[in-house]
Amino acid sequence: MPNFYATTPIYYVNDKPHIGHAYTTVLTDVLTRYHKLFGFDAFFMTGVDEHGQKVQKAAAAKGVSPQQHVDEYNVHFKNLWAKLNINYGHFIRTTDECHKKFVRDSLQSLYDKGEIYSKEYEGWYSVGEERFFEESELVDGKDPISGRAVEWLSEKNYFFKMSNYQQKLIDQINNNPSWILPDFRKNEVLGFLKKPLNDLCISRPKSRLAWGIPLPFDEDFVTYVWVDALENYISGVQDRKHADGTPLWPADFHLIGKDILTTHCVYWPTIIMAMGWELPKHILAHGWWLIDGSKMSKTSGTGVNPMDYIENYGVDVFRYFLIREMVVGQDATFGHDSFVRRINSDLANDLGNGLNRIHKLILTHFDGKIPAPAAEIGEQEKELESYAQKAMQFAKENIGEAKLSQIVEEILNSVRALNRYLEATAPWKLAKSAEQKDRDKLATVLYAGAKTLKNALTLLSPVIPQKAEQGLLMLGASDGILGKGEALFPRIQEDK
Ligand code: MSP
Repeated sequence: MPNFYATTPIYYVNDKPHIGHAYTTVLTDVLTRYHKLFGFDAFFMTGVDEHGQKVQKAAAAKGVSPQQHVDEYNVHFKNLWAKLNINYGHFIRTTDECHKKFVRDSLQSLYDKGEIYSKEYEGWYSVGEERFFEESELVDGKDPISGRAVEWLSEKNYFFKMSNYQQKLIDQINNNPSWILPDFRKNEVLGFLKKPLNDLCISRPKSRLAWGIPLPFDEDFVTYVWVDALENYISGVQDRKHADGTPLWPADFHLIGKDILTTHCVYWPTIIMAMGWELPKHILAHGWWLIDGSKMSKTSGTGVNPMDYIENYGVDVFRYFLIREMVVGQDATFGHDSFVRRINSDLANDLGNGLNRIHKLILTHFDGKIPAPAAEIGEQEKELESYAQKAMQFAKENIGEAKLSQIVEEILNSVRALNRYLEATAPWKLAKSAEQKDRDKLATVLYAGAKTLKNALTLLSPVIPQKAEQGLLMLGASDGILGKGEALFPRIQEDK
């Protein structure tokens, strides 16, 4: 059995989850479910990033300790994943003791190998942004982001010799063309690597930031939150194995948003190289969900809050929209009209109608048992069958690059072919005929229709797990005896 291990980013717990978090997690869940369907021992991990400035600040604003804050907020994520039917194998928190130990051990080992050194860093520091700026970045001598005053600060910190790995990283990217996906993101990273790579500051003085993992070789400092966070991908699975006994690491896929490309494609691999660990096999960056054309995460001016759609229209319909509407890699827009259009046309019309027609005809004319086809399978049936096979083949060939939107479209094509087949063969007319040849054709049509639908529902099950299961039961999944009829995908009636 082939193995598969994928990861989502671990999410900051400074606020409640929004569409961006929901998307990366649904994407990873669907990708992992497809691998299971195709016979992989598939597992994915998600979790939360609990250290650092953002979290310390959010806790301070509420007047609670960082630990109290993270204990409360990680639950919002777990609850959302339960609601979205997310089937993760493990949920990691970076405050887990075993994670903290893993990070400290790895830093000690880098330090012992001479990969980490300390130096005095001087520069313009912005208290508002909590970071240093280059002289050239300042605007009128002020912080270019907040516009506030900056002060000249001198501070000791620890640095990882990232610059030593620049050429090795470039070679890795060039020698493995599908390591960073999609292609244009790979080129973005290569572009970034044209400039000399700096060493990476991996510490924060405790006087400035207390909420982090203390450095093992200098307890006056905590670990930079990104170094802490990235190591979760290994620390979280160190005690787990695939069914065949092989370790989970290296991951097959890191799924990330495009905003965290550099941390995953530069910081992380160079740390891995210095540690002598194995590199992940693919890093796939998706685009942004836009609302009304802007990079909004919560509500927009028109009051569209994507998260409301889960309650209002159902989990599977929401998952379907996310997966079908975003071509992985590109940006997509979450809009009410496009949501209604997509769900009504793909699910209510194409899939829902096909399913209801076949179900009703078999119930009425064959006592709820899928008939055997007539001996002779005609051209029309062969053509219909070819659509189903194409969808299956396309899914198997493209799952390795996570082309989920395209896979779903191919499955829907087979459903559309079914509806055309029903229009052409008109089983409702055949049913009125007393002739044996019409009765035979009716049996063939309903058999072929049920088969196409079962194939489509099985292939859609990673995206719409509950609805697919209900649909398969309606079609008598195991024994061929039809289940109760229900409108699985009600048409969304309302106007905006
Ligand atoms: N904690 C870091 C990740 C550490 S991984 C070792 C982090 N967390 S985050 O909570 O800010 O964001 C996590 C993910 O949500 C990113 O992949 C990001 O791209 C995604 N999204 C946040 N807003 C988004 C949209 N509007 N659209 C799509 N995804 C976006 O970064």
